Amino acid sequence: MSAENTSIDHLLDETRRFPPTADFAAAAVAGPDLYERADADREGFWAEQSRELLHWHTPFTQVLDWANPPFAKWFADGELNVAYNCLDHHVEAGNGDRVALLWEGEPGDERRITYAELTDEVRRLANVLADLGIGQGDRVAIYLPMIPEAVASMLAVARVGAIHSVIFGGFSADSLRSRIDDAGAKLVITADGGWRKGKVSPLKPAVDQALADRNGLGEQETVEHVLVVRRGENEIDWVADRDVWYHEVVPQASAEHEAQPFEAENPLFILYTSGTTGKPKGILHTSGGYLTQAAFTHRNVFDLHPESDVYWCTADIGWITGHTYVVYGPLANGATQVLYEGTPEHPEPGRWWDVIEKFGVTIFYTAPTAIRGFMKQGRQIPQARDLSSLRVLGSVGEPINPEAWIWYREIIGAGKTPIVDTWWQTETGAIMVSALPGVTETKPGSAQVPVPGISLDVVGEDGRHVGNGNGGLLVVTEPWPSMLRGIWGDPERFKETYWDKFSEQGYYFAGDGARLDEDGDIWLLGRVDDVMNVSGHRLSTAEIESSLVAHEATAEAAVVGAADETTGQAVVAYCVLKESYLKSHEDIENLAQDLRGWVADQIGAIARPREIYIVTELPKTRSGKIMRRLLRDVAEGREVGDTTTLADTMVMSTIQSKVTGRR
Ligand code: WT7
Repeated sequence: MSAENTSIDHLLDETRRFPPTADFAAAAVAGPDLYERADADREGFWAEQSRELLHWHTPFTQVLDWANPPFAKWFADGELNVAYNCLDHHVEAGNGDRVALLWEGEPGDERRITYAELTDEVRRLANVLADLGIGQGDRVAIYLPMIPEAVASMLAVARVGAIHSVIFGGFSADSLRSRIDDAGAKLVITADGGWRKGKVSPLKPAVDQALADRNGLGEQETVEHVLVVRRGENEIDWVADRDVWYHEVVPQASAEHEAQPFEAENPLFILYTSGTTGKPKGILHTSGGYLTQAAFTHRNVFDLHPESDVYWCTADIGWITGHTYVVYGPLANGATQVLYEGTPEHPEPGRWWDVIEKFGVTIFYTAPTAIRGFMKQGRQIPQARDLSSLRVLGSVGEPINPEAWIWYREIIGAGKTPIVDTWWQTETGAIMVSALPGVTETKPGSAQVPVPGISLDVVGEDGRHVGNGNGGLLVVTEPWPSMLRGIWGDPERFKETYWDKFSEQGYYFAGDGARLDEDGDIWLLGRVDDVMNVSGHRLSTAEIESSLVAHEATAEAAVVGAADETTGQAVVAYCVLKESYLKSHEDIENLAQDLRGWVADQIGAIARPREIYIVTELPKTRSGKIMRRLLRDVAEGREVGDTTTLADTMVMSTIQSKVTGRR
């Protein structure tokens, strides 16, 4: 990556700064001393945090074992029980009556579950798991909607030392089957169905299909039982001897269950994530290090005051954000949190804001794609609700453009809440880059600084630090507690994917491009495969998208680099317009032209998109990621590739017809 990366000057022109207020800083959990302590003795710092935040049945004496890189061991001679830390520990400390989950179903039903109640449920479920033959090291697939039983299931699996593999409820029977097979799951925990957009979306039928298909392969079936939660009350088939109703066994089971200690490196979960090509990778995380960094970051990045805060992370438990910032981080810290089953727009677009108002949410963590969606609907929707309880806002998943950042702060955060833009990955397990509220002066659009105890750098292809003011590749230079321990069943792929590129330096290659500004703050530029090279000039998709959404007409934009005979790559953009703009402008004939000029004006002629297509929707995965690969296919006139991970598979045919219609 060249040092003369001038293309993101537009992003770096963002000069608005938001220092913490004195009041916030005075009451904040984190202080600048965290950085000092971590810098002085990184491993000692993590050891100290781990002892402070977690209960160890057997205290560890070793911190990091990096004798066999890239296979790290943290706190290896210590023993703990992850579920005990998230449950019994709080009850024993006298906080059993504190609400753990403020659950709201999409139809409007509600459950408040205290730490004592959740502990009781998980103990019973752990006994049921043992009865079903699940013990240490066994794999359990979890395919559930966002209901309290999903949280209880993950914790019960952890409690008996087994390994969960949560599969997002939106995945198909095929995806389910390949994940069950890859992990060799012995048990599947599912529900009849869950509520989504006003109706029951069935789950158990997909499990039945996955298992039936798999039988057809003639291989040994690993799944012995399917434990079924009743939620949707939809009609389902029943396989005698294999299927077990949750409500028929859990309440009847004994609530006596002593959590056994397991070694720190006991595997906790596998979570599948898609790579650049090929089959999904089963990212493996273990116990002690993972829980340490989950709890540490959850506490300090969100300024958690567990006795008074109401926290809400909108992620589904099927994603890493749901694992770390719905289940393990908040519960290890004894937080009270909202768990919401449905979609943001049901029964109408203000549902999330209603949830915040109703429960008095103080800390809110969501994704830029959601924020831009709300911008598109208009500020009057959140402004009709009382959001004054909010005091910290978080963002995760992709770069947040300054316009969305400012909207988030102004409209949702009443112009006063700190915003933390948190960079991390399924592989990193927990937050790696973020401002600390009360400490960091925030910059819209920049994720800013590594969290204390994390060592990162931005390097060139040669592995050398690029220096402030330059762009390059983001790497992690030292092992970290919540790092992935491998890819399930594929140690070679683990080495190849993340460690081969900078094997000489021993750096973890994250796959993201980044730039250091003059202060040394980090600006994420998207995956490196999303960085374009136009006529030998490096252009960032993030930057052009940011420019496009800064235009009054545009709600959302996706930019891809399409092969071009003359320039190597050319910029092709897809824009979704704001409803308000469409209402007030009849003639949008020349808008694409205008937008091209706008980008050229904002960034420079080199960035002028070759084509801009006005579309009604962008192709997104169920986790809200724009699938640029598909947009690149369309832009390059190719047949559109695999669309099975799209939330709405129709989107691509609509876009395709639009594009070919114009050619
Ligand atoms: C990729 C990881 C981390 C949980 C959700 C996604 C992108 C994530 C940010 C951010 C810019 C971000 C990166 C990363 N990403 N957070 N704050 N700013 N980019 O987890 O599916 O494993 O994706 O998401 O490209 O590599 P994931």
